[in-house]
Amino acid sequence: MEKTKIVVDKEFTLAEIDKRLYGSFIEHLGRAVYEGIYQPGHASADEDGFRKDTLELVKELNVPVVRYPGGNYVSNFYWEDSVGPVRKPRLDLAWRTLEPNDFGLGEFAKWAKKADTEIMMALNLGTRGVTDALNLLEYCNLDADSYYADMRRSHGRKEPYDIKLWCLGNEMDGPWQVGHKTAEEYGRLAAETAKAMKFMDPSIELISCGSSTGTMDTFPMWEETTLTEDYDYVDYISLHSYYGNSANDTEDFFASADDMDSFINTVTCACDFVKAKKRSKKTMKLSFDEWNVWFHQIASDEDDMAKKPWRKAPHLLEDHYDYEDAIMDGLLLITLINHSDRVRMACLAQLVNVIAPIMTETDGKAWRQTIFYPFMQASCYGRGTALHVVSHGGTHSTSKHENVTDIKSAAVWNKEKDEVTIFAVNRHIKEAVTFEADMRSFEGYRVIEYTAIEGNDMLAVNDADNERVKPCEKTDWKMDGGIFSTVMKPASWNVIRFGK
Ligand code: AHR
Repeated sequence: MEKTKIVVDKEFTLAEIDKRLYGSFIEHLGRAVYEGIYQPGHASADEDGFRKDTLELVKELNVPVVRYPGGNYVSNFYWEDSVGPVRKPRLDLAWRTLEPNDFGLGEFAKWAKKADTEIMMALNLGTRGVTDALNLLEYCNLDADSYYADMRRSHGRKEPYDIKLWCLGNEMDGPWQVGHKTAEEYGRLAAETAKAMKFMDPSIELISCGSSTGTMDTFPMWEETTLTEDYDYVDYISLHSYYGNSANDTEDFFASADDMDSFINTVTCACDFVKAKKRSKKTMKLSFDEWNVWFHQIASDEDDMAKKPWRKAPHLLEDHYDYEDAIMDGLLLITLINHSDRVRMACLAQLVNVIAPIMTETDGKAWRQTIFYPFMQASCYGRGTALHVVSHGGTHSTSKHENVTDIKSAAVWNKEKDEVTIFAVNRHIKEAVTFEADMRSFEGYRVIEYTAIEGNDMLAVNDADNERVKPCEKTDWKMDGGIFSTVMKPASWNVIRFGK
């Protein structure tokens, strides 16, 4: 049996993790909003029409920030239609959907408060520009006696919403985007928008649009060109990436988590190159504000959108996640933790019904997909100081990847709680691996919980009545002289918590 040995030492600190690494995303897309978080008349709806069953699961996930309202949707979004007493139905060109605008900015802010989460607001830089961004910022954040702040008050909201995080558009490099731009066009627009927004409210943080994925032809020149324009005015650059197993090659699917490492490394290099070019003292932060597995429904969704008339809240992007998707999301979470010095924020895309950990039945309950659990465990136990894990062990090759470590792991030390958590995945799909962790620098710590998602059926799924895939307690481990050891089953997600 192959063996992997890691050293987890309190001296090897990587970064204080920003809790916003465990963010998520709600887009006006499919049934994310309508029937997802908002459904007046549903048995579990509260006085605002929010589904309490969904809210409970969102709170279980412990999501500190939620991006809103898109995604591709935002590039043709007119925020004025979604506030105040008269709502205007609109055609959403991104998802070929009829948007009634019953639920808008004010409703989302109320929901976010109930969900105990911060808002990351995305701006339309597709069909709109500097003026509209300023108007929206004034509506949301200003306390002055000014036109849009007055408008907010007239809509019943006296206090500003005080939204701190703003995305300067969405995937503006993508030809599918309404108002798609070249890097030069976007760089200038982002710089001028950012500059003016910070004139109005210097307390905000701005996210410049990076490439839609690391495989775009324009990557990473997009980053270089756009940052050359807006570097001085923005705080983050975004990364988006989705992963899938459409080739039905599970080993290579798991190996592709390493593509996320390469993507992050290249974006980091592009940022630092522009920093050097500008002789800047500022280090650009990364916001990985769309990541997940997404492939199950892509073909049928495209077909559906091409054939169906304009509809409200259609079933779109409702990927039904299976066992191996949960393991893959675990690998992606490990990758994010291991880059938390530069990746300060990230958003699991998305949160409810649309490529989501939470699903809702129209007339029934809300339930947890397989991917719910790795995210919940990382979000709950992955807070504190990320540690550099020194790892020695076996590697393997897959159809498209070489030097793939059998075990991919991360460790987080929560000093306040006196806890250390190791997250580890055995990426072998057939072989168990002996795993040893040298924890000697954490004197007096013992194992307080070891749970794992293990199984043989890569295609097992959860549904409203059955949770077939979830973490279970593991008892076959040893702790001897500060050395923890166990055998990790093939294709397993492992969470080992140590405490005093
Ligand atoms: O999350 C689904 C879509 O994926 C988003 O709308 C878009 O930004 C990305 O391409």
